[in-house]
Amino acid sequence: MVAPRITVNGEEAPIAPAPPHTTVLDFLRERGLTGTKEGCAEGECGACSVLVARPGVNRPTDWVAVNACLVPVAALDGQEIVTSEGLATTGEPGAAPTLHPVQEEMAVRGGSQCGYCTPGFICSMAAEYYRPDRCAHADPADGADSDPEHGPNGFDLHALSGNLCRCTGYRPIRDAAFAVGAPADEDPLARRREQSPPAPVATEYGQGGSTFLRRGTLADTLRLLRERPGAVVVAGSTDWGVEVNIRSRRADCVVAVDRLPELRELHVEPDHIEIGAALTLTEIERRLDGRVPLLAELFPQFASRLIRNGATLGGNLGTGSPIGDSPPVLLALEASVVLADADGERAVPLADYFTGYRQSVRRPGELIRAVRIPLPLSPVAAFHKIAKRRFDDISSVAVAFALDIEDGIVRKARIGLGGVAATPIRARATEAALEGRPWTAQTTEAAAEVLRHEGTPMDDHRASAGYRSAMLGQSLLKLYARTTEAVSS
Ligand code: FES
Ligand code: FES
Repeated sequence: MVAPRITVNGEEAPIAPAPPHTTVLDFLRERGLTGTKEGCAEGECGACSVLVARPGVNRPTDWVAVNACLVPVAALDGQEIVTSEGLATTGEPGAAPTLHPVQEEMAVRGGSQCGYCTPGFICSMAAEYYRPDRCAHADPADGADSDPEHGPNGFDLHALSGNLCRCTGYRPIRDAAFAVGAPADEDPLARRREQSPPAPVATEYGQGGSTFLRRGTLADTLRLLRERPGAVVVAGSTDWGVEVNIRSRRADCVVAVDRLPELRELHVEPDHIEIGAALTLTEIERRLDGRVPLLAELFPQFASRLIRNGATLGGNLGTGSPIGDSPPVLLALEASVVLADADGERAVPLADYFTGYRQSVRRPGELIRAVRIPLPLSPVAAFHKIAKRRFDDISSVAVAFALDIEDGIVRKARIGLGGVAATPIRARATEAALEGRPWTAQTTEAAAEVLRHEGTPMDDHRASAGYRSAMLGQSLLKLYARTTEAVSS
């Protein structure tokens, strides 16, 4: 096995002697690439954003921005990254570098304000600059934005949702983002998209009693997990990275599953959709392209683009958090979790999956392979995340609805809740209060009162129990108002 190495700005570098828990951020800074900054070390500020070459959705390779503070450098064995230093083009020795078009726009429009956040903004912006399906919606010359969240050049502002600027300099940053054109044909990173991404490599990297392992196939990974049932399994490492940085947790054995082909498939069958547990949320979002409206509503609220570029459904369910944002949606969709171990597979309805606070029926050595969503989908659906900030925040309460309403009668109601109990739950009493009844203000008011008493909401620093209960009821009234608005307009 070749010693683990990573290509940074076109140059190969060995990962050793960095300890296995070393993040990409620390690895880069240790090598003198200090453009990549540490702001929060927990995926919230984007100061550490770098570009990674990943399998593309519409082209062989996409440049994807991720939080370098969360990803173990060993997870990028054999992979290719570009930092803010690698974007400008250097010419003759001693000559000034030619700024990347994104850097140029940031400079001339006053978007480059502090050295702390700017390199991260540049990397996130460069990933959006190279997004193959970014296209101009209007003539940039007329200065018109096609919608508040996209520039006339097709730039999606959500690409910067994970980058914080504390000097209130967003306006010039937005101006720079909306001014960038299309990459030139000879742009090396644009050309790189036409070639295959680096293939995943098996990794065995250990030091001082701790090991980072990646196997090439699901079968080998399951055998490994049977031998090492206590291993920490990571995909995007968006959760484990926080544990390592903020809580100083270390693991004897970390097993990466994010590149396993068997966990990266997405199939739309006549009676269900199966989503690989290791596809990132961005990949699911782009591949489904609105096919599951409830998921389409979830993604922009789940977290920043930087996080969604690493986070997976398998990870969000695997942690068993009662406030993960995907479980309420998947509960409303009546999804099942496909669990695999060395002996085979089993499908467990998500409603039966969680057994207690951060506990589930998943056995040691078992892995989430996929999430299965039955078809057809209920036509009336909504996801309400109640949080202090619109994006990039942990929900106080999350509610997902999926309703079949025929001839004015609620034939079926599925409601998933997060943040109101030790586990995500179905609001079964409320579902019963809706089913078989007319979809009227009277029914929803009565059902909202039932919904206010679902679960056992608690007081904590995010919200009081009373507020959480009130929000549950309000979310149903809001859904009713929206559906009747739609009918009467
Ligand atoms: Fe803040 Fe990485 S340092 S997101
Ligand atoms: Fe750093 Fe605004 S760019 S605080």
